[in-house]
Amino acid sequence: MASRTRPTGHTRLRTLTLSGTAAIILALVVSLLPNLAQAAETTLGAAAAQSGRYFGAAVAANKLSDSAYTTILNREFNSVTPENEMKIDATEPQQNNFTFSNADRIVNHATSRGWKVRGHTLAWHSQQPGWMQGMEGTTLRNAMLNHVTRVATYYRGKIYSWDVVNEAFEDGNSGARRNSNLQRTGNDWIEAAFRAADAADPNAKLCYNDYNTDNWTWAKTQAVYNMVRDFKSRGVPIDCVGFQSHFNANSPYNSNYRTTLSSFAALGVDVQITELDIEGSGTTQANTFRSVVSDCLAVARCNGVTVWGVRDCDSWRSSGTPLLFECNGNKKAAYTATLEALNSASRVAV
Ligand code: G3I
Repeated sequence: MASRTRPTGHTRLRTLTLSGTAAIILALVVSLLPNLAQAAETTLGAAAAQSGRYFGAAVAANKLSDSAYTTILNREFNSVTPENEMKIDATEPQQNNFTFSNADRIVNHATSRGWKVRGHTLAWHSQQPGWMQGMEGTTLRNAMLNHVTRVATYYRGKIYSWDVVNEAFEDGNSGARRNSNLQRTGNDWIEAAFRAADAADPNAKLCYNDYNTDNWTWAKTQAVYNMVRDFKSRGVPIDCVGFQSHFNANSPYNSNYRTTLSSFAALGVDVQITELDIEGSGTTQANTFRSVVSDCLAVARCNGVTVWGVRDCDSWRSSGTPLLFECNGNKKAAYTATLEALNSASRVAV
């Protein structure tokens, strides 16, 4: 009893320590109040930056002269991916004759503003120049490695992450590699491309990028997961996996997406949402954008989100109105949901 009314030296010390701790907590809360009271960020890039992430868009070089387009781009985004300008047909139209002018316009637009650049893409079965399409075997393997080396070397130090290899797996239930001229050069073509990219630009994050790998239960997702696990176990220099995330009725968002992102991250790679678009409109579309962004923010190794275009009419699937801005530049409900998701996650982080 007495010790309750008249503390012993030991209890007094504990009381003092506790009140000291309480004072520190109070001081912390008071110092954080201005931050808590701070208005949420009002642009996608700034909202993503609160948690150290980027928010990017695929950009077409020929649209950089459209001021309605660049007004939105410059205000909202802090990362870009050239939509077509870094592909093999664009950068090496004739063998060993490299052209970077269109890609450079995008890279310079971004780096002069301190934005990140995602390089897309070094080795792919599609958008190969004519000279490469007809190649097979060792000739093709060497031409592919030369391409990876030359392009990654040219951009060394300017690229945050490279899609080193794009879309190398079959759709459907086979879990097999896609049959392409690159695959026919030997099953090790993917790791060979990663090793060449690593030698050329050791500081860029090197990603494998694909679509229909968002649903954790799909065979293609599991096949890519197994490849990444194998690469990590053998020391192949892979740093990240890109999830294109083109969602529509045939490839819908599934709530196991967060499991997909976290499962890959647990292999020891970063994950990035690289080509996000979601066909639809109104609240349904907005809620799906909210879910996708929240899933990225829930995974520490999810570095950021890139949407595949700025306005609906810039999209490769424009009839599906899958982006965040209307053609007239107005923000859609999907924009508001995305911004809210980015802001609410950062408040949780505080
Ligand atoms: O620039 C020419 C133009 O001169 C010509 O008149 C016109 C006639 O067809 O074609 C124009 O090129 C088109 C190019 O986009 C630029 O608009 C190509 O035909 C067309 O095939 C190309 O489509 C691109 C597609 O990749 C090719 O595979 C899309 O813009 C681009 O958004 C899309 O991006 C891919 C990613 O790289 C990988 N993941 C899937 C994603 C969507 O397909």
